Amino acid sequence: MLTPPSTPARAKLDDQFPSRRSLDASHSRVQELHFTPDLSQAQLLGEGVWSKVYSSPALPSRQSESGRPLTPPSTPHRSTFGSSEQYAIKTATRSDATGVFQAEAQILTHIQTYESSSDYVVPFLGLCTGTPTPSLLFQRADFGTLESLLESSSNLPSSSTLDLFLHVLQRLTHGLYFLHNTANTIHADIKPANILLSSSYDSLPTARYADFSTSFVADTTPSSHSGGGTYSFMAPEQLSRDADLSIPTFSSDIYALGITLLSFLCGGNPFESLLNNGFRLREAVKMGDAMSWAMQEPAFEARVEQLQKEWQRRRGEGNILSLVACALRKKREDRVDAGAWCRKVDALVGKLSKVESVGLGIRC
Ligand SMILES: Nc1ncnc2c1ncn2[C@@H]1O[C@H](COP(=O)(O)OP(=O)(O)OP(=O)(O)O)[C@@H](O)[C@H]1O
Ligand SMILES: [Mg+2]
Repeated sequence: MLTPPSTPARAKLDDQFPSRRSLDASHSRVQELHFTPDLSQAQLLGEGVWSKVYSSPALPSRQSESGRPLTPPSTPHRSTFGSSEQYAIKTATRSDATGVFQAEAQILTHIQTYESSSDYVVPFLGLCTGTPTPSLLFQRADFGTLESLLESSSNLPSSSTLDLFLHVLQRLTHGLYFLHNTANTIHADIKPANILLSSSYDSLPTARYADFSTSFVADTTPSSHSGGGTYSFMAPEQLSRDADLSIPTFSSDIYALGITLLSFLCGGNPFESLLNNGFRLREAVKMGDAMSWAMQEPAFEARVEQLQKEWQRRRGEGNILSLVACALRKKREDRVDAGAWCRKVDALVGKLSKVESVGLGIRC
């Protein structure tokens, strides 16, 4: 992960023939699974606007009806696909979710045509048609969401919090590079609840992107439900009067990841004090100065100060906030792109003096 983002052969081909990418998105065949899961005893893992997501134990038969084995799309990692394999099934809670789920299955199928997708995106196994409305079957991420980790990390020593932050920062910046530059995909709803964590035998938990319900291939028309993101993770231009600027872009993804990572540094949403007031929240987001808002919260300022001390103890250069500030510029033309962000992060993290990594001893 300390190497600069790689450019797989597939991506090089796509650079020569840009039209291939959108063709992939429209023609990749979604894997259909014809089984009916019993969710009566299933554990609820989480829910969102469109769905309830349940844990589904290893399936009785590990074959879909089409005869294709239920394996993740590419060579699994020992840490994430162990013997006690579990699935997560995303079921619709709204009648109008069918089209949204089909679109999510399509974009995930497109993303999974690229080799390194399982490093950065929670593996998708197929669209279940045996449920009253179609459901989506995923590999289960067993360590909760970045949102839950953020909450539980408040009791950790700052050394462990910094280890976690840097680990997640590198994975997510490289993951965004993969989505943007390899899969040509705009996620459009990056936030801590849409980043899932999987435990690992020998390392810190692995963070990967989930919830592609509003995602689309760049240069194609976003689906009608795109753009309904969560205000506090939206880029300032998305709230302007100009309707064209509200459409998610690579640059608004960069901003949303910047706010997500700033939330980790602060231990909470930078706009915490405004979350109950939609009007003031929108005005604050439009001002494009999330870091100043965050530093007005004494608990956030104190946590960032502690992390800064730990950063300096490891001989980190400059202010730790500079790792995210480049993504949080108000004007989108001033923001970094994913490649430049990866290079900046890798250079700064690569210079840190090594410390013994210790177990976290936490559960989400
Ligand atoms: N593969 C998974 N493993 C474990 N938990 C999961 C998995 N997929 C989803 N979840 C849980 O379910 C929640 C909702 O899933 P998801 O974000 O995909 O749904 P949604 O309805 O599209 O959400 P949103 O309101 O953000 O649009 C997640 O925040 C997470 O807590
Ligand atoms: Mg979600």
